[in-house]
Amino acid sequence: MASVPRPRQVQVAVVDWLDRRFPFTSSVDEALYQRVPNYANAFYYCFGGMTFILIALQLVTGVFLAFYYVPDVAGNPAPAYTSVQHIMKDVYLGWLVRGVHFWAANLLVVMIVLHMARVFWTGSYRAPRELNWMVGVIMLLVVLAFSLTGYLLPWDTKAYWATSVTIQIIAGTPILGGLLQSLAQGGPTLGPATLQRFFTIHVFLLPGAILLLMYVHFRLIRQHGISEPM
Ligand code: HEM
Repeated sequence: MASVPRPRQVQVAVVDWLDRRFPFTSSVDEALYQRVPNYANAFYYCFGGMTFILIALQLVTGVFLAFYYVPDVAGNPAPAYTSVQHIMKDVYLGWLVRGVHFWAANLLVVMIVLHMARVFWTGSYRAPRELNWMVGVIMLLVVLAFSLTGYLLPWDTKAYWATSVTIQIIAGTPILGGLLQSLAQGGPTLGPATLQRFFTIHVFLLPGAILLLMYVHFRLIRQHGISEPM
């Protein structure tokens, strides 16, 4: 009688089958296992990794919120406000997911600043890592754009007036102020078109940008390794 294959044998057979078609095992090994210098054990080397974990948490909680959040219906922005109330009051653990998204967003900005301070303090922005520093600066701007666009989404009074102040600041830009203001607003006043625009930027454009930039950031770290202490 043919014996029933054990789970471990099935696992090995599946991995072998996949590896013959694409080198999955060696790619995962290459991605996960890398010797790091001993001094990288110091607590201040963890800020970059913490930033990464917080961004991952934002992406996951953001997707859950997007299951229930409605920016507007046929140009009427009221559902933005009511859907957030619905998430807070009726959706199972909605208050927790929204709370984590909110607090992790705040912590993320703190963590990036700490990470930047570490990179600056250890002089790791110097050759050959200048390009990675520049990529980092763009990521910082992307994270700030996340905060700015996300702030309007609950569509309550605080969100509305805070964003109107931000747009006034943008409008004060020399020469390009008017153009930037109408681009951000999507019209002559802050209204449903602004909300639709901020929502699209917040959930499509910026997540795509941050994922791409993190990929470049990590490839460059792999390329140069963690910097030597000064
Ligand atoms: C926004 C998200 C960011 C993530 C997820 C991130 C993540 C990381 C990680 C995991 C490392 C490995 C070493 C460590 O953890 O300290 C690292 C290194 C580095 N990061 Fe970032 N980082 C971010 C933003 C920034 C910013 C804003 C800057 C500077 C403006 C920056 C510049 C650098 C540089 C130059 C290195 C190489 C440091 C070395 O070799 O010692 N990063 N980053």
